[in-house]
Amino acid sequence: MKIKINENYRSVGKSYLFSEIASRVAKFTAAHPEARIIRLGIGDVTLPLTPAVTSAMSAAVAEMAEKSTFRGYAPEFGYDFLLEAIKRRYARFGVALGTSEIFVSDGAKSDVGNITELFGDNTVLIPDPVYPVYLDSNLMAGRRVEFLPATEENGFLPMPDGLRGEGEGYIIYICSPNNPTGAVYDREMLAAWVDFANRTGSLIIFDAAYEAYISDGCPHSIYEIEGARGCAVEICSLSKDAGFTGTRCSWTVVPAELTAGGMSLCEMWGRRQATKFNGVPYVVQRGAEAALSDRGREECLGLVKYYMENASKLASVLRERGVTFTGGVSSPYIWLKCTGTDSSWEFFDRLLTEANIVGTPGAGFGKCGEGYFRLTAFGSHEATDEAAARLRTFF
Ligand code: MLT
Repeated sequence: MKIKINENYRSVGKSYLFSEIASRVAKFTAAHPEARIIRLGIGDVTLPLTPAVTSAMSAAVAEMAEKSTFRGYAPEFGYDFLLEAIKRRYARFGVALGTSEIFVSDGAKSDVGNITELFGDNTVLIPDPVYPVYLDSNLMAGRRVEFLPATEENGFLPMPDGLRGEGEGYIIYICSPNNPTGAVYDREMLAAWVDFANRTGSLIIFDAAYEAYISDGCPHSIYEIEGARGCAVEICSLSKDAGFTGTRCSWTVVPAELTAGGMSLCEMWGRRQATKFNGVPYVVQRGAEAALSDRGREECLGLVKYYMENASKLASVLRERGVTFTGGVSSPYIWLKCTGTDSSWEFFDRLLTEANIVGTPGAGFGKCGEGYFRLTAFGSHEATDEAAARLRTFF
């Protein structure tokens, strides 16, 4: 063909991290069909949707089967019933949002990637290691990226100290609780980031996908911090707490105060979504509304508790074996230091071959992730018990 391609794709790795893992595991199972693989790699939930959610979805399916209650296109930014439920959820954190500031969508991953379309030629600050979509989507857009090293020394929580912040505003990604390290920013640390962003005219993109796992009083939303409405967008999802990884429902909050270049970011995001996205299905939005109800919330906290029991089982084996790790407290991820002289991918291969356990190599989340490895607590109790027994032998 003679078309010109987006040259920026040359600088993106050949394959998405979790596709690469899936393909290595497929190769291994083809060669070892007898292996009983335990998958603690991608952070995919294993418990079913809760009763409040499924009964709301069933009722919605019944409505869709009747001419009088059938629905076609959903309102472009979400049904009012769900926007109101999201507002009530934020009210629990003492945060007041306007209905027009909330945009329902099909996933935090899509929104994290798509929101980059609103921005011009900015320098982007990305924690390293972190969820790979932040980096890949900005590389695809050809942006300059600077990394914020998240290391043992700073508790895996980089701060703005030492950043120039002169002349230009940055686009800053913050994920708390962090994927993959499980580190969580406390109030003072987030306040320092908000202060930095406001001082330098920067925008924070706050990924709160794992907020339901916070157990120690740290903020669940960036808007719990004074001044955050003037500098932050927040993206949240029902994937990890309500089990919506396959059902797909999330939202992005863009406060009315956010303006740049004389344009409202809230209006721009609305324009982008209305043009390129046709809304989340009615049945799913009814399920999401139910997940955010008092009963749904109770049930979802039950799911979170179940997964955190897995996290503590994995953590206790690592502790017993003297493996250095973090996470697993306010996060469903355990971030461990590879033993021996293994690189992350060597460790991946060894764990797969010797224990038939799949995890995620830290290097897949950034350069500073090299030498680390992530295990997810999203498995079943049975699979996690078996994994814990195998890990006891492995280490
Ligand atoms: C992960 O394993 O990091 C996430 O589950 C992947 C995702 O949320 O897309």
